[in-house]
Amino acid sequence: MAEFTKTSFYKFLEGKSRVVVLTGAGISAGAGIPTYRDQQGNWQRSDPIQHQDFLRQHTSRQRYWLRSYIGWPAVAKASPCLSHRALAELESSGPVNLIVTQNVDRLHQKAGANAVIDLHGRLDRVICLSCKRLYARSAIQEKLKTLNPFLETLNQEADIAPDGDANIETAWVSEMTTPRCEHCDGDLKPDVVFFGDNVPKSIVQSIYRTLDDADGFLIVGTSLKVFSGFRFCRYASERHLDIASINPGVTRGDNLIATHIHSGADEVLADYLSARSTA
Ligand code: APR
Repeated sequence: MAEFTKTSFYKFLEGKSRVVVLTGAGISAGAGIPTYRDQQGNWQRSDPIQHQDFLRQHTSRQRYWLRSYIGWPAVAKASPCLSHRALAELESSGPVNLIVTQNVDRLHQKAGANAVIDLHGRLDRVICLSCKRLYARSAIQEKLKTLNPFLETLNQEADIAPDGDANIETAWVSEMTTPRCEHCDGDLKPDVVFFGDNVPKSIVQSIYRTLDDADGFLIVGTSLKVFSGFRFCRYASERHLDIASINPGVTRGDNLIATHIHSGADEVLADYLSARSTA
């Protein structure tokens, strides 16, 4: 990593004590979870599921649960990488007071971070669309297997996605029995925000309030292509906050960002971790 890159990160952190961090799929690249988009911001997977389709179409739910049966274990097994650990350390030791993540993999929490907002929900939980009862995703995995014994015969090596989707096309979709709530027999949905759904206003407002009091905004591993995350960059810019981004590629917010660190997150943040441990 070029020396100036490290220097930029230290310079950005210098004297700060209330940094808000926004992370995206790129931070989990070091944990073996692929991103949605490439470094130019181009979508690189099959079409994502739409919220309204999931609510209205049984076939959509069948497709989701089949693909997710294959895709979820890889996300469930992933361990935090150096970047997650470094941000957890920055949070517990002071400079960072909030991590807002667009990721649903829970790796910030697995790394020990406490002040984390899962902006797009969490994949390790499933919610009943009727009575809102919550289930552990691991329990639903077992249920899916019991309801659909053929799942064990499918290729488990499919290309996986950060949202637990797997790129697998099979005629078995129409045979899929979807899981239902044990309490009220309602349809179950992963506790995540699909495309076409909205993040609750109260969460957005609470992040704006934290930004009002922040002294820096650090963006790590997100293309900012989705408005849901981009709005915080715009808000921070309107409030003249010092903004830095760690990303080897381009982002939608590049003209609002003062410090561009064109590098992988692990390279920058691991260096910070080791510098701290030898200090
Ligand atoms: N370190 C840092 N950044 C990286 C790395 C890395 N090692 N590898 C890739 N990146 C960057 C890419 O250059 C890209 O800009 O990570 C970014 C990943 O962008 P996206 O895949 O678009 O992920 P994200 O911004 O989190 O997506 C936002 O879109 O599909 C929806 O709801 C989904 O939460 C997701 C949202």
